[in-house]
Amino acid sequence: MGRVAGKKALITGGAQGLGACFGKMLVAEGAKVALTDINLNGAEAAAAAINNEYPDCAIALKHDVTDKAEWESALKQTADAFGGIDILINNAGIGGAGSIESETYENWRRTQEIDVDSIFIGTQLAMPYLKENQPASIINISSVAGMIADGMMLSYNTAKAAVWMMTKSIALHCARSGYDIRCNSVHPVFTRTPIIDPLVQMGGGGKEGEDRLARQIPWKRLADPEDVGYAVLYLASDESRYVTAAEFKIDGGITAQ
Ligand SMILES: NC(=O)c1ccc[n+]([C@@H]2O[C@H](COP(=O)([O-])OP(=O)(O)OC[C@H]3O[C@@H](n4cnc5c(N)ncnc54)[C@H](O)[C@@H]3O)[C@@H](O)[C@H]2O)c1
Repeated sequence: MGRVAGKKALITGGAQGLGACFGKMLVAEGAKVALTDINLNGAEAAAAAINNEYPDCAIALKHDVTDKAEWESALKQTADAFGGIDILINNAGIGGAGSIESETYENWRRTQEIDVDSIFIGTQLAMPYLKENQPASIINISSVAGMIADGMMLSYNTAKAAVWMMTKSIALHCARSGYDIRCNSVHPVFTRTPIIDPLVQMGGGGKEGEDRLARQIPWKRLADPEDVGYAVLYLASDESRYVTAAEFKIDGGITAQ
């Protein structure tokens, strides 16, 4: 029996990076996963890689998380395929750089829309499915950038801080309503996925670029997707049955400074 045997998860942004890794790790522990993404080809490739090893455990769905109709369709298709949904992982997100002087309003709005508004829209639509499949777990991927600021990360800092607090409000509502639905946030530091490529390039690219980022982290190395995946696996499993409204910092100590 795996740690999440029989569970049914929808993972947004599942085509690559963290989302694809979460899918692989959950399936290896007995879950079925829908990898949804605006990039359908990528999601299909990630699902095929999983199904190669664990036949019929992953599906891929085209899903722009800013689009309410696409949320409705992705939730329904996932529930139809697996017989319900008991894990929602709000992972899709974008980064970006800009200060209070250089950021454009368009980029500010786009970041809030993809990183924050989508979690409101999607989690609200997912509630009936989660209520039908208790115990259930909502896992929101925030960032250390929601806890510590950078002058060049105005939109991203704001968005990820909002995800952190939205998580707690959702968790309290569920607890006080008597639902066995937990909601927690995960806050990774720089993790080796395509989202940090621009930062690595800015630092000189390759190992040199990674080392420059790693120097900011007490643990002195970037995180690998699996380092974050183990926290997600725990939150998805019933091992975390008493844990709600919590934040999990997978940050090599950076926020302790
Ligand atoms: N990698 C890091 O260093 C790091 C650190 C902290 C937090 N995070 C967060 O982790 C999450 C996953 O990021 P990642 O590192 O895997 O990055 P990534 O760029 O590799 O993956 C993000 C995925 O989200 C998808 N996506 C983007 N816009 C979308 C939309 N509108 N609808 C649906 N899908 C969309 C992309 O197609 C991509 O597959 C993000 O929320 C990110 O902010 C990442």
